[in-house]
Amino acid sequence: MSEHGNRTARRRWRAVATAATATALVAVPLTLATTAANAAEAHVDNPYAGAKQYVNPTWAETVESAATRAGDPTLAGQMRTVAQQPTAVWMDRISAITGNADGKGLKFHLDEALKQKSGSQPLVFNLVIYNLPGRDCFALASNGELPPTAAGLTRYQTEYIDPIVDLLGDPKYQDLRISATIEPDSLPNLITNISEPACQASAPYYREGVKYALDELKTLPNVYTYLDAAHSGWLGWDSNSGPTAKLFAEVAKSTKKGFASVDGFVTNTANSTPLAEPFLPNPNLQVGSAQVRSAKFYEWNPDFGEHAWTAQLHRLLVAEGFPASTGMLIDTSRNGWGGPNRPTKVSTSTNVDTYVDESRIDRRNHRGAWCNPLGAGIGELPRATPAGAPAESHLDAYVWIKPPGESDGASKEIPNDQGKSFDRMCDPTFVSPKLSNQLTGATPDAPLAGQWFEAQFRTLVKNAYPATPTPTVTPTPTPTVTPTPTPTPTSNPGAVCTVKYTASSWNSGFTASVKVTNNGTSALSGWTLGFSFANGQTVQQGWSATWAQSGSAVTATNAAWNGALAPGASVDIGFNGSHSGTNTAPTSFTLNGTTCQVG
Ligand code: GLC
Repeated sequence: MSEHGNRTARRRWRAVATAATATALVAVPLTLATTAANAAEAHVDNPYAGAKQYVNPTWAETVESAATRAGDPTLAGQMRTVAQQPTAVWMDRISAITGNADGKGLKFHLDEALKQKSGSQPLVFNLVIYNLPGRDCFALASNGELPPTAAGLTRYQTEYIDPIVDLLGDPKYQDLRISATIEPDSLPNLITNISEPACQASAPYYREGVKYALDELKTLPNVYTYLDAAHSGWLGWDSNSGPTAKLFAEVAKSTKKGFASVDGFVTNTANSTPLAEPFLPNPNLQVGSAQVRSAKFYEWNPDFGEHAWTAQLHRLLVAEGFPASTGMLIDTSRNGWGGPNRPTKVSTSTNVDTYVDESRIDRRNHRGAWCNPLGAGIGELPRATPAGAPAESHLDAYVWIKPPGESDGASKEIPNDQGKSFDRMCDPTFVSPKLSNQLTGATPDAPLAGQWFEAQFRTLVKNAYPATPTPTVTPTPTPTVTPTPTPTPTSNPGAVCTVKYTASSWNSGFTASVKVTNNGTSALSGWTLGFSFANGQTVQQGWSATWAQSGSAVTATNAAWNGALAPGASVDIGFNGSHSGTNTAPTSFTLNGTTCQVG
């Protein structure tokens, strides 16, 4: 395959480049001499120090679009600040390499990252490697496309890791610092969930797959590898943390470069566990006759947050042989817990459970509630070596690995072609045995994992802690020129809207994304989109609007939060549907009864 040919060529380039660097003073052909002169920087201890991080323009555009519908100017401003923050790019299936629904793949993002790199300031590109065979073995919402079999592992290696490493290895990207978060939840599942048959089946492929990813990624000096290390509410107990450090050491030792193949660990990926509990600083404090850590919420776990967990993990890793330079990252994208329910003082109760429940900022029913937790807020903004974090945590940075606003899982069954299933942990009506028989606390009406979930995004921004600042804008001077009158449109005079409809189909299902833009001069305070299916399709589940179908006619009416549509503003809605014939797209759309242009 040509891809493989490419790969060999690139690998050869890398080997030659290294040799050229080492022998720069001997006569070498001009091209190699140039390479040597522009040699990539040496691998550094903390790639985030002194660096900027890549802002994903596709995600930022979605956030910007949400800001146009925020309604309240402060919230809109906060969303605009959020849009400027760096978030990770997830390679969540093979097709993500060339581009999922939006067609923007890894190459697009790397090229954009080159544009964002200004001068000599380094730029970190946060990348998530997430496609192991038998992925998400203890849950269903993010099950993947590859089965836990030898064939699944081969596909992981040749169709997933190899092409990613080939792209990253293109010499033009040698000055980007690629920070790879490796396989969220995988090795941690082998510590706590190995009694689950699906995790038993996946275990050998998780170990082999992570080893392969590390071996291949580490052929590139500008790649920094961070293994996912779950979060304090999962692994903090001594009975979990010790075996975790041992497993990480075993996997590192199985790689070609041993401990040197791992730069660090990332905790709290896509979770909402706080950094610390400000009103519960001492887990061993006696309240009444009990220690705080013995409360139901903590179940004796001594680590109440990620500062404690990263510190404990670092100590255990070093004891297992990892170097002291091993760095830690914490995903703070959704662990802020501000908003109206945040306690403002420590409880005075003498009952340990009441004391903990009244004092904790983490408002979940249970620390195992991972799916779209209602009430969570955005946490600390991404930044290197954060001040105020304990030195023993050895933090390289706070990062936003989970892009705020992307769902953790659907709250109902939604057919799809990504291998994702319905996990009742995402259903707000479900009382889960995994949460000591309590409600999940998930946000209702959630779309599939990874899809934009605007209702959740709004809460995340409203409940941000620290509160997200609004951007400082330089006031634009009032123009002195007389504005030219808006020309009267000559074509399509009735059109006050544009609709862009894109669908991706599989067997008998499809997902459609619909972007509706108000091209009129007046703001809409509510809207209904209408169209007809051309070939007998049906809407199964829609999002970001109320969807209805009668015969072939479909309507989508705004949700409570996105009815306001200013001139020029757009709204993104979508649905999953089924089809039996060819999935022909509708050709005509109306907005509040007026025909729209098809964009
Ligand atoms: C989830 C999804 C994945 C998505 C990621 C980031 O884990 O399974 O598809 O890319 O979250 O939102």
